[in-house]
Amino acid sequence: MFKLYKAFVVSHLEHANVIWFPCPKRRSVAIEQLQRSASKFVKEVHNLDNCECVQALKLSSSKSGRLTGDLFQTCKVTAFFSVSHPCIMSETGTVTSKVMSTDEWVQRWDERAIGFHKDTIHPLLEKHLLVMVNGKTNIRIFFPLCGKALDMKWLADQGHTVIGVEAAQKAVEEFFEEQKVPFTTQSVPAINGKLFQSEDKKLNIYCCDFYNFSKDIAGQVDGIWDRGALVAINNEDREKYATILKGLMAPGCRYLLSALQYDETKYAGPPHHLSDDAVQQLYGDKYSIEMIDDVDALESRHSQWGIDWLREKVFLITPK
Ligand SMILES: C[S@@+](CC[C@H](N)C(=O)[O-])C[C@H]1O[C@@H](n2cnc3c(N)ncnc32)[C@H](O)[C@@H]1O
Repeated sequence: MFKLYKAFVVSHLEHANVIWFPCPKRRSVAIEQLQRSASKFVKEVHNLDNCECVQALKLSSSKSGRLTGDLFQTCKVTAFFSVSHPCIMSETGTVTSKVMSTDEWVQRWDERAIGFHKDTIHPLLEKHLLVMVNGKTNIRIFFPLCGKALDMKWLADQGHTVIGVEAAQKAVEEFFEEQKVPFTTQSVPAINGKLFQSEDKKLNIYCCDFYNFSKDIAGQVDGIWDRGALVAINNEDREKYATILKGLMAPGCRYLLSALQYDETKYAGPPHHLSDDAVQQLYGDKYSIEMIDDVDALESRHSQWGIDWLREKVFLITPK
């Protein structure tokens, strides 16, 4: 706990990074000039130069402040989620998952704590796309909690219509800008949000809270790619989430669910461990569930979760 305090709290307190984080050198110089002027008022150090003064007052130099700030930012950007880690270790060493609000997700986008984003097409979607499409052309594919997944553009380029839902406007704007797709926006009062749409209407992203969305907004879909979505939401919201997805599934819809599985006693998410039984409980009533893939998904960035194995399973869920 003390190590965490030193790494994540003291750096803010001592260096006040959030207030004066001096990225450009010229700002460091300006801050040092200010420190020098202020030190003239302190009798014991008024005749020392800046370096001696910093040492005498046991302060950090702005150079070391910058370095700390850089390390701190790097840590934030490279972490899978942000340094304000959502998984909390209790005094007894058991892990409990922090309940994440939509605002906290939006904040993660602002802080660039988006280690979940992939710069490539997801290999398991690529591998199993034909299973989802099932010989049809130009189908409607839904992306719950879509972020700025490249897969959406990839599918639209193949003639499919993509419908995504994402709470963070920054993610949606970045998606269209980075994919170089001109778009229009319109307000959708029924979901208290906005629709971002490409000119050819193949790409449609609703920026709103997922729990405001339903088939009444954009109709039913033929396929679903659920990656980083069911595993990302709070465990207590799973039933509510599954009810919305069930409502969106047209007869014959093929839903590909990517589930992560790991030792829950070591890390509690998000992303959360999603067991075979949990998938069965959520969808087994009216849907056939088949596990069609099971791969090792452990990467070096997962070491900070304290886990030593991670499986990614793909379930094919279809109406019975
Ligand atoms: C783990 S990320 C996965 C993003 C995307 N599916 C991907 O694979 O890159 C989860 C996303 O869900 C969004 N999100 C979380 N809660 C949401 C909610 N209640 N409504 C809409 N989006 C939400 C977050 O902003 C984030 O972009």
